Amino acid sequence: MTENVMLNDIEEVLYSEEFLKENVKRLAKEISDDYAGKNLLLVGILKGSIVFMTDLMRELTIPARIDFMQVSSYGTGTKSSGIVQIKKDLEVGLEDYDVLIVEDILDSGNTLHYLSNFLKGRNPVSFEICTLFDKPERREKPVFPKYKGVDIPDKFIVGYGLDYDEKYRNLPFVGVLKPEVYSK
Ligand code: IMP
Ligand code: MG
Repeated sequence: MTENVMLNDIEEVLYSEEFLKENVKRLAKEISDDYAGKNLLLVGILKGSIVFMTDLMRELTIPARIDFMQVSSYGTGTKSSGIVQIKKDLEVGLEDYDVLIVEDILDSGNTLHYLSNFLKGRNPVSFEICTLFDKPERREKPVFPKYKGVDIPDKFIVGYGLDYDEKYRNLPFVGVLKPEVYSK
């Protein structure tokens, strides 16, 4: 078998595939319980949420509609800004739906703070956030996810959908990049 060349850039594996799977299962159970009998619309935030979204939706035991939004927050390198631009919007109006945002990682909160206000303005039946990772100490805007995988330290992570410079999204686990990769 050919070796995975991406592994050369990883300093440390933080969360294994098994760990992620257990977390996703736990979240899916909570969501399935809470949204039974409701009209659930999962809104994945592209591109980082794709792996989480596809795993999460398959663990749900209730019907769910899915849709996606893509936003850019004019970030450079490893930081996002407060200026959010909608690059792809939803297909449906939200008046009939219990909206659950599915996000990979909550950092400054700039992106989700903006997006929450934007989507709440469309009068969904209910509105909540599910994030796989959270860096609470980095928060600049108030954002309170109802469903959360794990709190993580202030480190830049990649894999399981998360990228650095559009790379490493396809790693099946989550790892910390070697500092020299940023300074290249
Ligand atoms: P926020 O607006 O600062 O909360 O940024 C959230 C977005 O920044 C996430 O959806 C990710 O796209 C990106 N992000 C934040 N931290 C990381 C990280 O550690 N690895 C990869 N992407 C990150
Ligand atoms: Mg993202």
